[in-house]
Amino acid sequence: MRKITDNIFYVGANDRTTHLFERLWSLRRGVSYNSYVVVDEKVAVIDTIEAGCTAGYLRSIAEATGGRPVDYLVVNHMEPDHSGSIAALRQCYPGMTIIGNAKTLQMINGYYGISDNVLEVTDGYTLSLGGESLTFYLAPMVHWPETMVTFANEAKVLFSGDAFGCFGALDGGVTDDELHLEDYVDEMVRYYACIVGKYGAPVQKALQKLGSLPMRVVASTHGPVWKNSIADVIKIYDRLSRYEAERGVVIAYGSMYGNTAGLCEEIACSLRSKGVEKIKIYDLSSADMSEVLRDVFLYRGLVVASPTYNNELFPPVRELLTKISERTVKGRLFGFIGSYTWASAALKRCNEMAEKNGWEVVSCSIEQKQSRLSVSNEQIEAFANNFVELL
Ligand code: FEO
Repeated sequence: MRKITDNIFYVGANDRTTHLFERLWSLRRGVSYNSYVVVDEKVAVIDTIEAGCTAGYLRSIAEATGGRPVDYLVVNHMEPDHSGSIAALRQCYPGMTIIGNAKTLQMINGYYGISDNVLEVTDGYTLSLGGESLTFYLAPMVHWPETMVTFANEAKVLFSGDAFGCFGALDGGVTDDELHLEDYVDEMVRYYACIVGKYGAPVQKALQKLGSLPMRVVASTHGPVWKNSIADVIKIYDRLSRYEAERGVVIAYGSMYGNTAGLCEEIACSLRSKGVEKIKIYDLSSADMSEVLRDVFLYRGLVVASPTYNNELFPPVRELLTKISERTVKGRLFGFIGSYTWASAALKRCNEMAEKNGWEVVSCSIEQKQSRLSVSNEQIEAFANNFVELL
């Protein structure tokens, strides 16, 4: 338990044993599930934590409240990493009223069979706890349809749900001034790209809606509590949700026997010699997809190279392009390289995906038949020149 303001306490938990968040995304430095207690004439808990991490959770709440019962549980988001302890909390505090919007309450019933002693709130509803008051703002699709955020008006704390969250357990501190921030900023971009990346437009809407709140603290459900860096993290979310990118190139390839990989290495050298400073190369058969997606969100250029496999794209390449398409990533510059031995298909499939998604593609795509012997140095030069010109 940690004090955040005079009447608000952090009671979340670190998870350093789960390896895959949502059973999909790597957790190299763990993750935190953040929960908060507002102590006033009435006591409110804001969001709970993942069911497997409850050891110590109830004790932390009791410590924050000084043993008083919890009057309200505010459920900003129903994904089980935050709703997983609702039933345990209700069991411990049977008189506790659960607060959510109409969609939330339907999900609480569906997930946990709880429908009694609930309070349905609408956008802008304010609940008084005594000296402190909580206002609820709907923020749909950031990143589920029921998502809302809660603003503590007197303390000026925004409980933002997943928004402004990041991977990475909390190493000793809770607030941003107590932690080594560089690691968390990198993990925020990776988190955004993997989890929230599809929902750029709803994030923009939420930022506009909440931007005028006089926030002193932003308390997300994952990662540090933001006090000193609020403007910086809002800027990161604003940039990512607009799909803004910096000058740099991700080269992502599939390569079964090294021929396509070798060509990509040469292209990287050529791009570097033409002044591209930030280049990230990924072999998609072994790369961490979350890192590739993070860099796709960071950089404007994307060179994709794929062997033809069963008359289709090489499967890991297809997976990456599908993930980019699902996230409706905009404003990127694509360059395609296809390779084949007896029947060409990969380059065609890349171009089909580009057309379907409206992606900008550099001319002079390269198609390699069997080995580097089929590609001239001039082709590589032309590809790199065109790429750099448009980057
Ligand atoms: Fe951290 Fe969407 O749950």
